[in-house]
Amino acid sequence: MKKNIFILIMFFSIIITLFCRAGNVNGRDSVSDIKIADYEYSEIENPLPVPPLLKNSSTDPLKASFSLTVQKGLTEFFKGTGVITYGYNGSLLGPTLRFRRGQSVDISVKNSLNEVTTVHWHGMLVPGDVDGGPHQIIKSGGLWHPAFKVNQPAATAWYHPHGLGTTAVQVYKGLAGLIIIDDEVSDKLNIPKNYGVNDIPLIVQDRRFTSEGVPVYMTSMHDMMQGMLGNTILVNGTVNPVLKAERIRYRFRILNGSNARVYDFRFSSGLKFHQITTDGGFLEKPYYTESIRLSPGERAEIIADFSELKEGSILYLKSGNFDILKIVVSGTQKDITVIPEELARIDRIPLEKSQGDRYFSLQGMGPGVNINGKQFNPYRIDENIKYDSVETWHIRNVSGMGMGMMGGGMMGGNVLHNFHAHGIQFMITDRGGRIPSPSEQGWKDTVLIEQNEDVSVIVRFLYKGVFMYHCHILEHEDNGMMGQFKVN
Ligand code: C2O
Ligand code: CU
Ligand code: CU
Repeated sequence: MKKNIFILIMFFSIIITLFCRAGNVNGRDSVSDIKIADYEYSEIENPLPVPPLLKNSSTDPLKASFSLTVQKGLTEFFKGTGVITYGYNGSLLGPTLRFRRGQSVDISVKNSLNEVTTVHWHGMLVPGDVDGGPHQIIKSGGLWHPAFKVNQPAATAWYHPHGLGTTAVQVYKGLAGLIIIDDEVSDKLNIPKNYGVNDIPLIVQDRRFTSEGVPVYMTSMHDMMQGMLGNTILVNGTVNPVLKAERIRYRFRILNGSNARVYDFRFSSGLKFHQITTDGGFLEKPYYTESIRLSPGERAEIIADFSELKEGSILYLKSGNFDILKIVVSGTQKDITVIPEELARIDRIPLEKSQGDRYFSLQGMGPGVNINGKQFNPYRIDENIKYDSVETWHIRNVSGMGMGMMGGGMMGGNVLHNFHAHGIQFMITDRGGRIPSPSEQGWKDTVLIEQNEDVSVIVRFLYKGVFMYHCHILEHEDNGMMGQFKVN
């Protein structure tokens, strides 16, 4: 049955691909009777909102208590067009959770939706039973009370739903929020750290809006193959965001919270910036660069220095043709922050500590995407791993191979995947036969893997339980490009 549908979809996607090539020069998804707007749909600018910090109701500094309600609400992305969205403690996205290393955290999560959900702490090193994957279902009207100890370096992580086959659509409807972890290292660094003032979270997501300003999901056959790509970028849930900035250094915590889009972030003026973190924490030293590529689920903190810009300068944070964030720079505020030479010490795992290798082949297309020939089965453990062991994982993107006459080109070229695993932070040791760029030489939990590329990572398993590994292109994850490993 599944095979037949797959063949059918492959057939239609070929036709549609040909059709798009012929009729639609800019490659935008035009095959549907829904009128899809250009991303210039509305020019009305909005001040960049910053998600509020969630109040910690514990008075004990060693503890933190938070409560989240998963709920439905109304959002006007464009004036006068209220649409139903999901959020935590609000109608869209969620508040930022701020943890300290060493803290015991408990969170009460209430599900007010009419459907099941889960809340996964992406990037947090916590045991499998509180990780919020597809096994920790919160029924409609139900409560969930995970508790864990924060024991990892300062970092930017995030939370989002992870239900079986429903992750993509629930994230698309608005369920995502940021997590900030502080520790003694981040305390000591004299970098911008005033949340919402010079330390600005940027949750970057794309959505497809109709010309009426209504977000739609999966309207084209391409979406099945590449994942859902939008025509409009939201930052912190807002279209056409503008940040009024001072002429000082800014730290941006960038989260690619999109379902499927990969971004190549850069400033319109070519302004270089310092990347200071990867997914799991600080780099050893800042990496001075003009662009940074992030695939879905990945985070990076950067520091951009606007002090040399002229009063009234306008620049954009861009990716490709998208203007992601407009920044207007003015003022003469004094800046006491610095860009340190050294950020943190990283306890690298020596390569010779590795006790074994595992291989993961990301393969197949559309509804056939799989890892090592297997699609996700919640009742099957794919990999058994010894607690406290060190392994090298080799991940390969072989999608599009063996497609015969369909070749890569016709499917729109490169089939990208990435690889994310729960309950661990790994270190990339090899990308396509080379050591990774300085941009990736820190702790990672998600890594982009291009077509026909091999990436090796080294990892130590310090948390017990059942964890997911999957492609973080959410449509791929939901279509079964996911497996489970058990540490014990
Ligand atoms: Cu961000 Cu398994 O997910
Ligand atoms: Cu995760
Ligand atoms: Cu994928």
